[in-house]
Amino acid sequence: MLIDNHNRVVDYLRLAVTDRCNLRCNYCMPAEGIDFADRKDLLSLDELFSLSKILVEQGIRKIRITGGEPFMRKDLMQLLRKLKTLPELEDISITTNATLIGDHIEELKSLGIKNINVSLDAIQEETFNKITRRKQFKVVQKNLYRLIEEGFTVKINYIVLDEQNIQDMIPVLNTLVKDYPVAVRFLEEMPFNGGSKTFQSIKWNHKKIYDYISENFKNITPLISEKTSTSNNYKIEGYKGSFGIIPSFTRNFCGSCNRLRVTATGDVITCLYAQASTNLRDILRSPFAEKTVRYEILKAVGSRAKDGYEAEAKSDKIFSNSMTSIGG
Ligand code: GTP
Ligand code: SF4
Repeated sequence: MLIDNHNRVVDYLRLAVTDRCNLRCNYCMPAEGIDFADRKDLLSLDELFSLSKILVEQGIRKIRITGGEPFMRKDLMQLLRKLKTLPELEDISITTNATLIGDHIEELKSLGIKNINVSLDAIQEETFNKITRRKQFKVVQKNLYRLIEEGFTVKINYIVLDEQNIQDMIPVLNTLVKDYPVAVRFLEEMPFNGGSKTFQSIKWNHKKIYDYISENFKNITPLISEKTSTSNNYKIEGYKGSFGIIPSFTRNFCGSCNRLRVTATGDVITCLYAQASTNLRDILRSPFAEKTVRYEILKAVGSRAKDGYEAEAKSDKIFSNSMTSIGG
């Protein structure tokens, strides 16, 4: 079992498989994109698998595949098939923008991968196009409904962006949450925008998001959430789904943080707001990789910041990073 220096069990790995994305969301990167990593610097399929295997042996029980957009990677399904052979791994989940998942829905289902989180910050095509700078709304909508119909547990991550998608928030609840068993989670905006704009603070914090929603719905009741959940979750009376709020910028859930991140190039990140503790790519490519990886992971987990604020204070230029290279 991996236990950090603040006595928190670390059993959840967020594994980024690529830093590339086919959208250009304006809160994540500038229109021209970022300096994506050289392909030779991305962990290979075998390296991703060997690393996951070692980490599962060390105590990881849940792996969430992130990116960039994970389905940009042509060998993603091969990786998922291999991960499925690890008996101690209890859960494999994916966070995706749902543009490219369509061809893989059947196989994901047959592999028993149930939890798909879809990043979607709009319910109207115009809002979507403006935020993502791409015209992919219809395919996302189609894939989203297919995932729901096929019985996946679908959560939608909706980043609340001042002056951009506030007008879509209530319609999202009145369409998706009203009629389908999905959870829509409203997230505070985060500062990782690839340097495209300076970031001081947010206008829409979790409290303001809740107040805005509760002005529109009278019968809201809180739901009991898992201890390690990032979201506070709620039910609207008579609605099939639920909604949640993730204080990703306010960071008030660090006390139960069970997460470790590995980026597509092998950086180990022990807090979303921290700089990389170490890089495992060259280690994975060297003899005696397994022993050294184990040692580096123990070292990183043993020196985590207590919370996102402590991590941020120690980080240098962390906010010029893009979400797509950190893995979200
Ligand atoms: P579940 O596994 O379904 O609970 O989802 P998750 O919240 O762990 O993963 P997801 O990829 O859906 O995360 C959605 C967003 O929540 C991320 O893009 C972040 O904005 C935020 N988030 C996730 N993990 C953390 C975290 O450890 N710290 C902070 N501050 N925000 C996080
Ligand atoms: Fe964990 Fe850092 Fe997120 Fe807090 S801000 S929950 S410590 S990753």
